Amino acid sequence: MPDALLYAAPLEGMTTWLWRRVHQEVFGGAHRYFTPFLSPNANHSFQTRELDEVRHNQDMAVIPQLLTNSSEHFLWAARELWNMGYEEVNFNLGCPSGTVCGKGKGAGLLLRREQLQQLLDEVFAALPRGMRVSVKTRIGWETDDEWPDLLTLYNRYPISELIVHPRVRKDFYRGRARQGILEGTETAISVIYNGDLFTPQSVESCLRDYPQLRGVMVGRGLMANPALLRQCQGGPAASREELRRYHDALYEAYCRRCSGDLPAIYKMRELWNYLSGSFQDTAGFLKKVRKARNRSEYLGAVEELFACHQLNAQPLPPAGK
Ligand SMILES: Cc1cc2nc3c(=O)[nH]c(=O)nc-3n(C[C@H](O)[C@H](O)[C@H](O)COP(=O)(O)O)c2cc1C
Repeated sequence: MPDALLYAAPLEGMTTWLWRRVHQEVFGGAHRYFTPFLSPNANHSFQTRELDEVRHNQDMAVIPQLLTNSSEHFLWAARELWNMGYEEVNFNLGCPSGTVCGKGKGAGLLLRREQLQQLLDEVFAALPRGMRVSVKTRIGWETDDEWPDLLTLYNRYPISELIVHPRVRKDFYRGRARQGILEGTETAISVIYNGDLFTPQSVESCLRDYPQLRGVMVGRGLMANPALLRQCQGGPAASREELRRYHDALYEAYCRRCSGDLPAIYKMRELWNYLSGSFQDTAGFLKKVRKARNRSEYLGAVEELFACHQLNAQPLPPAGK
């Protein structure tokens, strides 16, 4: 996969700026990271958490992602980010959450085609000169028949990259991603595929089957196997020592930023829901992590995992996650 672009997907709550820094340092392999969505609003200010996401990305290729249904809020955020040195923002048109879609944002905008068109018209008319907008989209709300019209709409704009997650909103993350939709995806926009790529082999065959792709984006697969993108470039699988370093650096970073033992443990629980895929027989371990109430209980469980459990040769995210 010599020229393919390999992106790390945004996963709200997990791919924080702390995670991105630790991931790049220990495993690398991602040509770009994306922040979890930022929600600009009428206050014209980012929340503290959102500011953290965009202020700590020195020496890294990070694209901030925006979730909104207002061209005014989009443009405010784009100008702020441009002034901070960002040359691209990514527009979230895929989030399936009920609260988000209920407000007509994320995948909710795919239902409101006229509003989406007006928003894109207004955004592209007034962006800071030189700023790029990429789009991360699902292929429809209810059925994949919606995709051709949606693609026709996107084709009208100078979108810098189209990241396609071929599920409809109704799917959430269930069932298989509809990779075959790429067959009929005719566009001059550079396309990045995202969905259910969990192994280097699946990345390779996706890029082989669809040579028009500019690259791929991986989310849950990278959380289960943080070396996945490095392996896609011919590098080695994650070693036990690297996984330990990755865990310890992330846990200590969360401990420094959180007050009390529990918030850091909660962050690590979310990570372990996926990273446990790197180890064998983790049901008991996950139970202990869920029960851990303080640092020593948590680290005791982690110590035992690293001391006693085999690594999985082919780490996968747990089914249903
Ligand atoms: C817990 C979770 C949080 C997510 N947060 C975001 C987000 O903030 N922005 C976004 O565009 N997609 C988000 N996604 C979707 C992922 O970026 C990605 O599109 C999806 O997981 C499918 O790719 P995968 O099969 O490689 O995981 C999230 C997905 C999950 C499971």
